[in-house]
Amino acid sequence: MNLGIYETMTLLLILIVLSVLISIVIVSWRNGISPMPTSKRVSRVVVSEVKRLAGLGLIVEAGSGWGTLGIQVARSCKGIRLVGIENSPIPLWVSKAMAWLAFGVHPKPRSVRSASSGVAVTFRKGNIYSYSYARADLVICYLYPGAMQRLGPIFREQLAPGASVISVCFALPGWQPAKVITCGDLYRTRVYVYKKE
Ligand SMILES: C[S@@+](CC[C@H](N)C(=O)[O-])C[C@H]1O[C@@H](n2cnc3c(N)ncnc32)[C@H](O)[C@@H]1O
Repeated sequence: MNLGIYETMTLLLILIVLSVLISIVIVSWRNGISPMPTSKRVSRVVVSEVKRLAGLGLIVEAGSGWGTLGIQVARSCKGIRLVGIENSPIPLWVSKAMAWLAFGVHPKPRSVRSASSGVAVTFRKGNIYSYSYARADLVICYLYPGAMQRLGPIFREQLAPGASVISVCFALPGWQPAKVITCGDLYRTRVYVYKKE
């Protein structure tokens, strides 16, 4: 069978789209959650809570997906450094590209920084259960109940006293929230804010 250039390109495109979809589905199935981004309304609430927390240096986003929330936080909060941890390759590549478009390239490898604001954003391949949170002043996450169950003891052991956790949708079992905000979106999404004792 002889394929013309048009058919070959179409076939190639279909194969690429299928591979991308399969990669996302397989990793989502393994993770127990898809890379669904936080909605705009809920992101705005997260940003305003981040702004309320004083003295933030390092923010870690556990499961940074496509990078939309992390970039919005970094854009709105001057002087912070945000590291997004993600293990799904396609969303991770997209987040790196978006950070590059949003902030430009910084000479330091794997780090993207806005010269004017001093903001640094880095999206890294990693596992949220084995990443070290010891230096984080704030962890942001939008995961699922099983992940929160696993992360609770990890945060208790690793986070420094005074460090905060902001969780979209899901509470940290056994932790007392300092604040719970109900967002004005269709789902009345809750945002939980915790302070490590
Ligand atoms: C619901 S999405 C949230 C994305 C982003 N934080 C946001 O709010 O827009 C959850 C993300 O966590 C990632 N994730 C889940 N388990 C993970 C793990 N063990 N290690 C790294 N990333 C993980 C998923 O791949 C997914 O992209």
